[in-house]
Amino acid sequence: MTQISRLSLQNFRNCRQVDLDLGAQLNLIVGDNAAGKTSLIEAVWLLATGRSFRTQKVQHLIEHEQAQCTVFAKLISGGDHPVEHRLGLTKQLHNTQLRLNGESVSSQSEIAQRLPVQLLTPESHKLLEEGPKARRRFMDWGCFYQFPEFHPLWRHYKRGLAQRNHALKQKLPQSQVQLWDDMLVSQALQIDHYRQDYLQQLTPYLNTFCDALMPELKQSVACQYRAGWPKNTDNLLTLFRQNFSKDRQVGHTQYGAHRADIRFKLDQQEAIHGLSRGQQKLFVCALLLAQACLHEKISREPVIMLIDDLPAELDEKHRLKLLELLDMLNIQHLITTTSKDLIPILKPDQARIWQVTSGQIHKQD
Ligand SMILES: Nc1ncnc2c1ncn2[C@@H]1O[C@H](COP(=O)(O)OP(=O)(O)OP(=O)(O)O)[C@@H](O)[C@H]1O
Ligand SMILES: [Mg+2]
Repeated sequence: MTQISRLSLQNFRNCRQVDLDLGAQLNLIVGDNAAGKTSLIEAVWLLATGRSFRTQKVQHLIEHEQAQCTVFAKLISGGDHPVEHRLGLTKQLHNTQLRLNGESVSSQSEIAQRLPVQLLTPESHKLLEEGPKARRRFMDWGCFYQFPEFHPLWRHYKRGLAQRNHALKQKLPQSQVQLWDDMLVSQALQIDHYRQDYLQQLTPYLNTFCDALMPELKQSVACQYRAGWPKNTDNLLTLFRQNFSKDRQVGHTQYGAHRADIRFKLDQQEAIHGLSRGQQKLFVCALLLAQACLHEKISREPVIMLIDDLPAELDEKHRLKLLELLDMLNIQHLITTTSKDLIPILKPDQARIWQVTSGQIHKQD
């Protein structure tokens, strides 16, 4: 079980003071436009990842005319012997404080490690159509939870890459730029290995959930992984060396793990070209469910799923299907909607319904 049992927000957007005892399964958050539904989902995502999915500006998150916002969650995890963790995040304009069980922690990953959260919003289909960054984040989410070595490795790699790019921009001598190459290449190859491994494990789950959500699709789905350098590269270090003048011209390192991507294919065709907009959304649902299922299998802990504005995402039939799958996976889910009637509530005795009005939230009986 991984479950947020209590969620508190202070001065987070229009939510001045919110305290919720969340249910273990469906939490339906109902309210008119501008009530504060997305803000609630955003707060959980911020606690789990350190980022908002709507803004990069901290001042947007803090209630107007206030100095700071706080998100706090009591989390229960562990199977037969559940443990409770208290996770907290306070943001001021130029400062973030993280707390875990009453102690300050310096790294967001310590919170993230305990709070595996997935997010589906009306923007989620962009995972398929926009640049590779979102797809790298998607696979790196899985690598983070599955391989403990992955996160420190990726952080070191990014730090080394920033130094190399800085040296390129400063037009430092070739020898100084290349000081970084051995380390970057070695780390890139390790990162590559973890990502390939992860996608290989994920693909059967992806096919299962694509079948469940889109039985009309006859083709099987493949995740075609791209490392971030040409396929026929024998020696990445040689490629780095050969590419030095080009790198210097453009002022950054053109090949490496920071350029990795995934192409989702239905037989030979790119998924994005073969699917309707609705199917693209279902495909993203299948990706998240596949991740959730694999995560549960590896860590024995379910994820928590945040779904913003579900009716905007899927039609009635597919909303029902998605809710059945979430129920089957026994995942705590927070779903926002403008109307309760648009969401099929499978187990009314286990569901909690929350009414949001102008940043205030009350449980409905
Ligand atoms: N920093 C802030 N301080 C105070 N209020 C804010 C702040 N940022 C946003 N708001 C307000 O919070 C309200 C809630 O926004 P939110 O996006 O959470 O609504 P919502 O319920 O998801 O609406 P919709 O159904 O339209 O998506 C809006 O009226 C917005 O103007
Ligand atoms: Mg909203």
